[in-house]
Amino acid sequence: MMNIAVFASGRGTNFNAIIKAVRAGKIKANLALLVCDNPDAGAIKKAKRAGIEVALIERKDFSSKREFEREIIRRLESHNIELIVLAGFMRILTADFVRRYAGRILNIHPALLPSFKGTEGIKDAFDYGVKITGVTAHFVDEEMDHGPIILQGALKIDESDTLESLEKKIHRLEHRLYPEAIRLFVEGRLKIEGRKVRISNP
Ligand code: GAR
Repeated sequence: MMNIAVFASGRGTNFNAIIKAVRAGKIKANLALLVCDNPDAGAIKKAKRAGIEVALIERKDFSSKREFEREIIRRLESHNIELIVLAGFMRILTADFVRRYAGRILNIHPALLPSFKGTEGIKDAFDYGVKITGVTAHFVDEEMDHGPIILQGALKIDESDTLESLEKKIHRLEHRLYPEAIRLFVEGRLKIEGRKVRISNP
């Protein structure tokens, strides 16, 4: 079975949705490792509860980003990780790191890319006043929030929506869409052709 590492910095609700999908047999892979850069992240508790090994690797403990990533790579290699799933990992990976795992890093973004890149996608879309927003699962390349798109889901922003209600809707959609994108990868059904991701039938 394919070994997956999830990278998270925060609450870990997407991580939790992935754990559930693996448990339910929807994703046939082994969640081998949580890589986390924040000792206070809720994701750590979720990993421990699920019996998933945690690599807590803090940037402050390393003299450079390169050294920080070298430690991450060491941990990934010791677990034979074949797929990296970013789930609210709030750090930009270097071009060297991305090239090393080219085509094997996925990300979820809480807006319809290429709109509202960055760390505040939900709020930026809300404040902008768009009527439709959504979520994007994509491959990671060397530019932030830019790689080839695997799946997108859209939702309406209603008159009655607040930032909080929109956040809830976005997260619910992420928790459905991201496990589905991971499943497609694990089943070998994704093929990157330039900017396009072709999805084949099973
Ligand atoms: C998610 O909404 C994810 O889309 C976002 O961080 C949140 C993590 O939540 N990622 C980004 O904004 C990346 N640019 P979680 O820790 O509860 O899964």
